[in-house]
Order: sequence, then structure tokens, then C-alpha cells
Amino acid sequence: MPLDIVILAAGQGQRMNSDLPKVLQPLAGRPLLAHVIETAARLAPQGIYVVYGYGGAAVQAALADAPVDWVLQAEQLGTGHAVMQAMPLIPDGHRVLVLYGDVPLLRAGSLRELVDGDGATLALLTARLTDPTGYGRIIRDRHGSVAAIVEHRDATAEQRLIQEVNTGLLAAPAKKLREWLLGLRNDNTQREYYLTDVIAAAVAAGHRVDTVLAASAAEIAGVNDKVQLAEAEAAYRRERTRELLLAGATLADPLRVDVRGEVEVGRDVFIDVNVVLTGKVKLGARVKIGPNCLIGDAVIGDGTEVCANCVIDQVSVGADCVVGPYARLRPGTQLHARVHVGNFVEVKNSELGQGSKANHLSYVGDASIGRDVNVGAGSITCNYDGANKWPTKIGDGAFIGSGSMLVAPVRIGAYATIGAGSTISQDAPDGKLTLTRAKQTTVDAWSRPPKLDEQQKAAAIDASLHKPKGSKR
Ligand code: UD1
Ligand code: CA
Repeated sequence: MPLDIVILAAGQGQRMNSDLPKVLQPLAGRPLLAHVIETAARLAPQGIYVVYGYGGAAVQAALADAPVDWVLQAEQLGTGHAVMQAMPLIPDGHRVLVLYGDVPLLRAGSLRELVDGDGATLALLTARLTDPTGYGRIIRDRHGSVAAIVEHRDATAEQRLIQEVNTGLLAAPAKKLREWLLGLRNDNTQREYYLTDVIAAAVAAGHRVDTVLAASAAEIAGVNDKVQLAEAEAAYRRERTRELLLAGATLADPLRVDVRGEVEVGRDVFIDVNVVLTGKVKLGARVKIGPNCLIGDAVIGDGTEVCANCVIDQVSVGADCVVGPYARLRPGTQLHARVHVGNFVEVKNSELGQGSKANHLSYVGDASIGRDVNVGAGSITCNYDGANKWPTKIGDGAFIGSGSMLVAPVRIGAYATIGAGSTISQDAPDGKLTLTRAKQTTVDAWSRPPKLDEQQKAAAIDASLHKPKGSKR
């Protein structure tokens, strides 16, 4: 039976106390809803329908590339009402799986189990929680069959002791789901049409309700407030760091590494504390990451060491490089093998050839640097003229003396040497020494000023304020 998935994402999420719609709250740096859509897509369904409403434009804009169809729920009249909005798009012969946009850690495996049944009846994902507060409870009859679901706020004290909860996730044949939804009423404390009431409707109509018990509590946790959001983040982090450990990485402290994206590691990678990895990160074999580094969307080659306190974003680093401490590699940077980028060096949109070094206090922007180049301490590519960015090209083997300003656009030839402190605004030829330097002078008649007391200082300031314009002291 073809499968369609409906994801409920129209609610405001009042308990978040936030202007951002709940389903856009970030988990591991991506909207909650993005996680749910990704999991849904793994089941390869015929269609994914996202029911949106509150903050609709923002939600659609944030997920513009997602492979889904959007269904508007103009008024948020409850989860049952939300599913109803999608039903006109789903043919009778299909099976419908309902997911919640605020249940982000769900595993595709559990969902598969839920939709793997014969498809003729209602299948419900449940979980057993030590603290079921806030969840709808599963009410079973004396034969152990599911009889109903009672929302926490509508439950009696006795019902609240029940630990088996509704995860909100269910699968049902479209034709029957349509009938049950039509019978929903809103006579509850919220005056909403609860999706969960279709279970009672199915039971009343004499249908069997199958249940699948979720493997873990984290997997089915709903994210309704910032406490639950933080818990979901911690659960996600635990899961990702576990994967890193199983892949052979050594983590100085698994609780102090934040994986917020997809990280691939080679053998014998070492990651120190307070490292944040975002987006797609690939760390080669024997890569060492020092403490307090932020690395996003980067490929780092075998044997490279990133020392403490580096920020690396959209960069490719070759093998056996040394980066940092305190280096910043910005988007579009490519370091070839054995490059050294040291402390307080910023590199933006530049290429450094094999074996080149910029070890101290430099800015390298929009530059293409050959092999075995030495960029001396404090040297800067002046790539911006106040209106446009310009490139700098440095040939193989060049030596840039300390404190040089390379005013782009400019080319430094192969094996050229630039004298320390030069401001280079014209191309420097291959193999020669080029420098610009003011003549050094010594002033014989000069002596250091004497130390003045407060009164003398006041008199001197007074004299300088009242001196005639243009005169010298
Ligand atoms: C829901 C379930 C509860 C379950 C819990 C698990 C119902 C009535 N209750 O409660 O049994 O234990 O999830 O997480 O289904 N939404 C809409 N339109 C609406 C209302 C909600 O799209 O009119 C969306 C929300 O954006 C959210 C999801 O549905 O993504 C769940 O809504 P929420 O209000 O969070 O339901 P819970 O009270 O958590
Ligand atoms: Ca919820």
C-alpha cells in the first residue's frame, strides 16, 4: 500500500515563550522540522505533506528546499483538525503516517516497524516513560487492548500514574482515518480536535489497534519548551559523540564535544574539549583538534593538527598542516599539504600552496599563494580599496618580509624577496629583492622630555591650548 506522510507543524508552541515558531527552534543548528522531514524522507514515501500555520511564511522560507508539499491550517484547532487539512490530497488506497514537527529525534527504524504491519488497521507508537508528565496516557481495557488515549491535562489522578504514553505518532489506512477524523469533537479543556481521539473512534468502531513500543524515551520526546529543547540537544549530542567513539575517535571528554552536523572521521582522530563541529565535517586519519575550536563545513587532511582556539568555516585543509593556535580560516580557503598557519592569522578566500607558511599575525585575503612561500609576521594583503576587493598573487618560494603591506591587485614573483616593512603597490619581479623603506635618520640634538609634576603639566596644557594657530611648541 503506497505510503503518505503528514507532518504537523502549524502550532505556535506557546510554551517556548519565543517569537520563533516552535518547529523552527534549532536542534543541532537546524530547525526541529528539518530533522523530522529528513527522517520522513528515509521511508521513501509517495508524498510528504507538512501542515503549516503559525509563522507560515517563516516556516516555508526556512525549509524552502525540502521535498515536501505544504498544506495550510489557517486556524490551529488541534492535531486532528491539522491532519484533516491534508486528507483531501491523499487517496483512499494509501496508508497515512502522521509525524509531529516537534518530535525530532525519531528513528526511521521505529517508523518502518509502524508502517510494516498489514496496513489494514491503526498502528500506534507508544513509549514507557519513568516521568510521563505532559504526555497523553494509553488507556488499555482488561484484555490489554488499547481503549483510548487521555491527554495529561484531561487525565484523572489515577490515569496520570500510567507510564505508557502516546507518542502522537500513528499510521492508518487513509479511508478509515478520514472517517474517524470526521467524527472528532472538541469537547475537551483545550476546545481542540485531538488526533489522539481517533484511537477511541477506531476502538468504538470495533477496529484492532496495534502498538509498537519505541526503543528509547529520547527518540519520542516532544519538544514543547526550552527545557525539553535542551534535553533533546543533549540526547542528540550523546548519540553523535557515541558514533564518533565507535568510529575510532578519541574524545578528551565526550560530554564536551558538540556535534551539530555530520562528522566523518578517519582512524585515530583526537578531539579535545569544547570543540563544536557543525555542518559537514570530514577529519582525516590522525587529525588532532585542540581545545576550543569551532569547525564547520570543513575537510581536514590526514595528520593535520588544529591547535587550540581556532575558527574554521567552509575550508579545505590538506595533509600534515599545522593550524593555530588562534587562527581563523574563513570561507573559500584552501590549504595544501604541510601548510602552517599560526597564531592570530586570518585567511579568507585564499589558496596556500604546499609547504607555505604564515605563522604570525597576518591577514591573507583573496590571495593565491604558491609553494614554499614565507609570509612574515604582521604582513597583510590589502585587498579592499574601500569599494572593491582585489586579488594578490604570490609565486613559489617568495619571501615576504615582516610587516609588509601588499596593496592589491598586486603580484609578487617567484622567489622574490620583499624587504621588511615595505608597502608594495606595484608588481615585484621574480627572484629579486624589492622594498620600499623610508630613510633611517638619527636626531643627535634630541633628548627625552623631563617628568613634570601636576602643576607643570596643567601649565603646559594651558599654553598649548592658547598658543596661536600654526605655531609649534
Ligand atoms: C501531542 C499529543 C499527545 C502526545 C504528544 C507527544 C494530541 C492531542 N496530543 O500533545 O497525546 O503525547 O503530542 O509529543 O495529539 N499542531 C498543528 N496544528 C494544531 C495543533 C498542533 O499542526 O492545531 C502541531 C504542532 O505544531 C506540533 C504537533 O502538532 O508540532 C503537536 O502539537 P502539541 O500542541 O505540541 O501537542 P502536545 O500537547 O505535545
Ligand atoms: Ca508537543
